Amino acid sequence: MQAELKAIEQEALAKVAAVNDVKELQAIKVAYLGKKGSLTAVLRGMGKLSPEERPVVGEIANQVREAITKAIDDKNDVLENAALEEKLQEEAIDVTLPGRPVTVGGPHLLTKVIEEIEDLFIGMGYEVREGPEVETDYFNFEALNLPKDHPARDMQDSFYVTNELLLRTHTSPVQARTMREYKGEKPVKMICPGKVYRRDTDDATHSHQFTQIEGLYVDKDVKMSDLKGVLDIFAKKMFGEDRNIRLRPSFFPFTEPSVEMDISCKVCHGEGCSVCKGTGWIEILGAGMVHPNVLEMAGYDPKVYSGFAFGMGPERIAMLKYGINDIRQFYLNDSRFLKQFHQA
Ligand code: PHE
Repeated sequence: MQAELKAIEQEALAKVAAVNDVKELQAIKVAYLGKKGSLTAVLRGMGKLSPEERPVVGEIANQVREAITKAIDDKNDVLENAALEEKLQEEAIDVTLPGRPVTVGGPHLLTKVIEEIEDLFIGMGYEVREGPEVETDYFNFEALNLPKDHPARDMQDSFYVTNELLLRTHTSPVQARTMREYKGEKPVKMICPGKVYRRDTDDATHSHQFTQIEGLYVDKDVKMSDLKGVLDIFAKKMFGEDRNIRLRPSFFPFTEPSVEMDISCKVCHGEGCSVCKGTGWIEILGAGMVHPNVLEMAGYDPKVYSGFAFGMGPERIAMLKYGINDIRQFYLNDSRFLKQFHQA
């Protein structure tokens, strides 16, 4: 029996030494030490031994079991370490490889231009307000001196939601809304940036959706010269100190008198060139003195209060400032266009 045990030990150790796989090692363990293993089978036969032989054989059996167990455990460590080493090799990171570039976004050019204009007017004491894009016919037109059948409504073809609701065609309704909120009791000095909508066919200079910035200043004794002064500061800060402005007579139902403001062409400084189509001037915005009817409808006494208003298109201003020739560029989200202005 002792010889048998020794033979089992020899055989098991040889197998363990030869094996190179954790699963196979596990199989060897079962084959020798498991319930149906060969060592176990031998030990079961111990009952047949004489009482003198039993402890001797028992001790040898234990030694054999320990030897095999240790060999298996040791081998298991070796194999696991090797597997770990292999995995580390496989997953090794080459820290000398160049990194992938991280693309960083930035605010849209239009957002930047709007914020620049906001900052400029905040610096002159204006508050920034907002109004709804889905507007009532009353605020979009009627409160601005454009009754239902007024022909000037044609200037602003509209998207109607219902008979009384439409996508606002300009930011001017916020004039009326703000004055109402102020109840005709105190001065108003506000600008309002926002989206507006018109039934236009999109091309290089038209878009059915674009942005505007409205301005309104109502107080006692506001004059046309105040308007001109503010617009002059705006033009010089926005386009350069060497630019001049001029006001041309125009028409808007909600201002009287109404004007259009031009700035001197930056290329020819008023001489006339292809950029300004030979006129020396470039049209920038519409403005005027708030019509007495508009003041009155909003609760301001036109005998006490007067005011000026202006409305400009940030797209147009950005196009002039950065030499962009197609308004659709603002809305296409083409990163090749957008990223040119990340530093602007
Ligand atoms: N609301 C006018 C437009 O969209 C612009 C404007 C605003 C004109 C304020 C005068 C005063 O064309």
